[in-house]
Amino acid sequence: MNYKIALIRGDGIGPEVVNEAVGVIDAVAAKFGHTVEYVDVLMGGCATDAVGVSYPEGTAEKCRACDAVLLGAVGGPKWGPDKPAQQRPETALLAIRKDLGLYANLRPAMLRPAMADASPLRKETAERGIDLMMVRELTGGIYFGKRDKYQTEDRGMEATDLMAYSEKEIERVGRRAFELARLRRGKVSSVDKANVLETSRLWRSVMHRLSEEYSDVEYEDVLVDNCAMQIVRDPGQFDVLVTENMFGDILSDEASMVTGSIGLLPSASIGDSAPGLYEPIHGSAPDIAGQDKANPIATILSAAMMFRYSFQKAAEADAIERAVDAVLAQGARTPDIAKPGDEVVGTREMGRRIREAIESAK
Ligand code: IPM
Ligand code: MG
Repeated sequence: MNYKIALIRGDGIGPEVVNEAVGVIDAVAAKFGHTVEYVDVLMGGCATDAVGVSYPEGTAEKCRACDAVLLGAVGGPKWGPDKPAQQRPETALLAIRKDLGLYANLRPAMLRPAMADASPLRKETAERGIDLMMVRELTGGIYFGKRDKYQTEDRGMEATDLMAYSEKEIERVGRRAFELARLRRGKVSSVDKANVLETSRLWRSVMHRLSEEYSDVEYEDVLVDNCAMQIVRDPGQFDVLVTENMFGDILSDEASMVTGSIGLLPSASIGDSAPGLYEPIHGSAPDIAGQDKANPIATILSAAMMFRYSFQKAAEADAIERAVDAVLAQGARTPDIAKPGDEVVGTREMGRRIREAIESAK
């Protein structure tokens, strides 16, 4: 096959980790007889610096002309919340999600075998294993509702952010969760705040309807506060978690941390049509940018998800994941996951070893 991949290298460590992922994609493509073409797309703080806005005209069109999008990271203190919206990298991130219709954000949190002792959880809890898939609704809710800020007569300034959800929005992401559960361990936990929020009560009623349709899948409702607690108490109980946009943002950071490092976890954002967007769940880490210290594994595993979900190439995805596990098993660690006595390697060396593991695998 010939694949066309849009690269949004972005800010901070983004360009470094994307470079390593590109090397890995090339290695796996060569091994399996594919060719890959890359198209650079400017977006984020770097775009603000270059052309004055973080989401230049035509960004979505350029991505739509490709089979998939690989994104490093966007953001940084230079383009903080005090800057006008069109200069902020986060504005671009929300816009591309919306414009490409990427309503389902898949964030797997997995304790990789070689990293079993990296979890901050108690040994006996971590030993039960962590392998959950967070499915976060990505184009609705409070992230995209009407916002306002206005002067009141007697209470100073007042601000509002509206959280709205339609049945249609809930159902399409819910279906993704049930379909994924069928390919995994067959359990969906739907996370809401139905004891308080009307949007959550609608969410829950749609999920219940779906759970009857997917009667082969085990189903439970979990309140979001309880879920936050269960993720640190016993994450092994979860298979697929599905939740609205902001709950998913918060819980996915928590779920990633119990696996040891946010530097290891990939994500996929998908809609009803191509292209999907693949990115590490970590940020742009400006403090270590350009120092060959960043962990490229989350981006490399995002490339594996790209093969799995956008290209329907499971063998290629497996090859990347196995190479990552092999290199970790040999003991190589980037600084973020290194413990005293470990062999510490840089971004480029970690990438090189993973490529080598792909090339030398049978
Ligand atoms: C994420 C990030 C973004 C989000 C920010 C940078 C807008 O935290 O992808 O989880 O909240 O969605
Ligand atoms: Mg987040």
